[in-house]
Amino acid sequence: MTTVLVTGGAGFIGSHFVRCALHKHPGWRIVNLDKLTYAGNRSNLKDIEGDPATSSRHRFVHGDIADENLVDSLFAEEKFDYALNFAAETHVDRSIGDPGAFILTDVYGTYVLLEAAKKHNLSRFVQISTDEVYGSIEEGSFTEESALNPRNPYSASKAGADRLAYSYFATYGLDVIVTRASNNYGPFQYPEKLIPLFVTNALEDKPLPLYGDGMNVRDWLHVEDHCAALDFVLLNGGAGEVYNIGGGNERTNAEITRLILETLGKPDSLIRHVEDRKGHDRRYSVSTEKLLTLGWSPTHQFEQGIVETIRWYESNRAWWEPIKSGEYKEYYRKMYDERIRTSKGQAQ
Ligand code: NAD
Ligand code: TYD
Repeated sequence: MTTVLVTGGAGFIGSHFVRCALHKHPGWRIVNLDKLTYAGNRSNLKDIEGDPATSSRHRFVHGDIADENLVDSLFAEEKFDYALNFAAETHVDRSIGDPGAFILTDVYGTYVLLEAAKKHNLSRFVQISTDEVYGSIEEGSFTEESALNPRNPYSASKAGADRLAYSYFATYGLDVIVTRASNNYGPFQYPEKLIPLFVTNALEDKPLPLYGDGMNVRDWLHVEDHCAALDFVLLNGGAGEVYNIGGGNERTNAEITRLILETLGKPDSLIRHVEDRKGHDRRYSVSTEKLLTLGWSPTHQFEQGIVETIRWYESNRAWWEPIKSGEYKEYYRKMYDERIRTSKGQAQ
């Protein structure tokens, strides 16, 4: 049996990775360490935990990656072969209001994991970084050689963790791989991020708060393609290497918004142009040449994947309605009520 540590495996991407990996590798056992912050949700793993073929190879541990004693004893007990670090505070808007939580988890938590990996001679550590560490680019695409220029506390803390992970390769010889993926979409994404927020708001006939002029560009990657790429680099990548993982689907936020409204048959009048995010990165774009050359390629086609994703939220109200009715309401009130009240109304 290969024993794999997945951190943050109750979140959006981590839970997909756990599911994909348990199905793909019958010889793997996964230990899933998750703090269950507001973004962590055991119900993301309901199918895995309800199926004896996978539940017997999945151990959930409720805990913090920044807890040295817990992490060290878990490494000692489980003798992991591999670790993939998904655990993070992940929402840019929250990082603008509360950077401290991002430093503690994204930077310090990664340090705690790297220390344990070094001490217990882990075979390979994959740090799930992000394309946001490069910052914004008006034209062209960042390669793995491009300089990092993070511009908000989320991307800056992820850049810190990204280079810290690399330093454990360069300094101590730990086998580390760093991946930098673009914006993910798919089922089970917490409804604070653009796509699930706008889909669920539209389903509730609530306004869609589009920041600024709506012309910021993101590159969209299906979460299952991301997970397949992570599995691929874990098994085929080179020690100390960085891999960009792009979807090749750049869209403006306004385009995404209209696609959501059209798919759901909702009116454009739901769009509100609200005050822009502070320091809002204009465009993210990465070259995926290096990973394509190594042999990975995405399988999901965006036009189909996005419609399936929208339909998933439409059919799975039982997943997101409880989230949106809890403490989320206070978050939403603080983040959006004033912006929507003073908004300029629908898009041109
Ligand atoms: P998410 O917010 O949905 O999930 C994060 C998970 O980490 C949650 O389950 C949460 O409970 C857990 N967590 C948070 N702090 C923790 C701690 N201190 N200890 C243990 N667990 C903790 O995030 P996501 O969108 O699934 O992102 C996963 C990873 O992928 C992150 O590292 C993120 O930076 C990276 N990433 C995300 C995207 C994207 O588009 N979502 C793109 C590229 C990279
Ligand atoms: P988000 O999903 O927060 O991801 P990231 O900022 O990490 O790329 O946002 C994606 C884009 O959508 C980004 O340009 C900000 C924009 N956006 C809005 O216009 N309105 C919103 O309410 C949110 C959450 C995001």
